[in-house]
Amino acid sequence: MFELEVGSDARDTVSGPVTPVIETAELTKTYGESRGIDGVSMTVEAGEVFGFLGPNGAGKTTTIRTLLDLLHPTSGSARVFGLDSRRDTLRIRARTGNLPGDFAYDARLTGREVIDLFARLRGISDLGRARDLAERFEADLDRPLAELSRGNRQKVGLVQAMFHEPELLILDEPTSGLDPLMQEEFLKVVREARERGGTVFLSSHDLDEVERVCDRVGIIRHGRLVDVEEVADLTERAYRHVTLEFSGPVDAAEFAAIAGVTELERSGNRIAFKAQSNLDAVIKAAARHELVDIELTHPSLEEIFLTFYGEHGPR
Ligand SMILES: Nc1ncnc2c1ncn2[C@@H]1O[C@H](COP(=O)(O)OP(=O)(O)OP(=O)(O)O)[C@@H](O)[C@H]1O
Ligand SMILES: [Mg+2]
Repeated sequence: MFELEVGSDARDTVSGPVTPVIETAELTKTYGESRGIDGVSMTVEAGEVFGFLGPNGAGKTTTIRTLLDLLHPTSGSARVFGLDSRRDTLRIRARTGNLPGDFAYDARLTGREVIDLFARLRGISDLGRARDLAERFEADLDRPLAELSRGNRQKVGLVQAMFHEPELLILDEPTSGLDPLMQEEFLKVVREARERGGTVFLSSHDLDEVERVCDRVGIIRHGRLVDVEEVADLTERAYRHVTLEFSGPVDAAEFAAIAGVTELERSGNRIAFKAQSNLDAVIKAAARHELVDIELTHPSLEEIFLTFYGEHGPR
């Protein structure tokens, strides 16, 4: 039998360029006089976990709400699955799971009732992975949302966004309010979504968290997208913190002379410094003495950004 109809959604499986899952062009939203976002252009590819990072008021929520047409852009455009965010809103929403930044559905409803409602809205008859996810997040689906703590309400929100295993997850600060164990569980679930071929767009304040789960990160500040980087590139080009401890005194100048070594400090038989790219020379110099201990740590993404961009970004 031949397939007579190839829906537009199936085109990507035939050869040719793959449509980005999210594509914004000069997306701009002003709230009267005040700035929301200004000329945000970015692309998120299928199968990516994309982190959208920025401080309070940077424009993360505004961008996210525009993608789902919960806000109309003042100018510019957004496409999701190649569909126009304003014209094809319902088709986009049907293929997306969304956790809003302020998840607070009708608070009289229990988590189970909220999820039932979303299942019906999405036209699905079973609750998919809701039970499994609720167990993993230890979400209480039996009490009204009004009676739940903020973190526990957030867990219901996550189950609501993810239970139908959508192609695209758009999550506004998904880990806010979660305790560290639940944050870990969440990161696992995100990695599983990527393994299934899903795409994830998540906003965060936490560079460390983004570093651990995202493939790329977009940095938004004062409503403008200031940079998009591969997380792997960022960590690659970065330096290491090196601490060496020797059995006796060592001439620190020997290490200070190595290209790429900076911020050297010495205390007793221990020296510590930053080393950029020239680790081989560092290790060979260390090996000429009797080493007692060696520590090599990666800087956090936060530190990398401060190093490369300073407090206020590259502007
Ligand atoms: N309804 C509104 N009316 C007026 N200004 C608004 C409105 N919503 C947002 N803004 C402004 O738009 C800018 C971006 O806000 P947005 O909520 O998108 O930031 P955010 O990055 O999500 O911040 P947070 O990390 O605090 O959630 C801010 O300057 C904010 O004051
Ligand atoms: Mg926000």
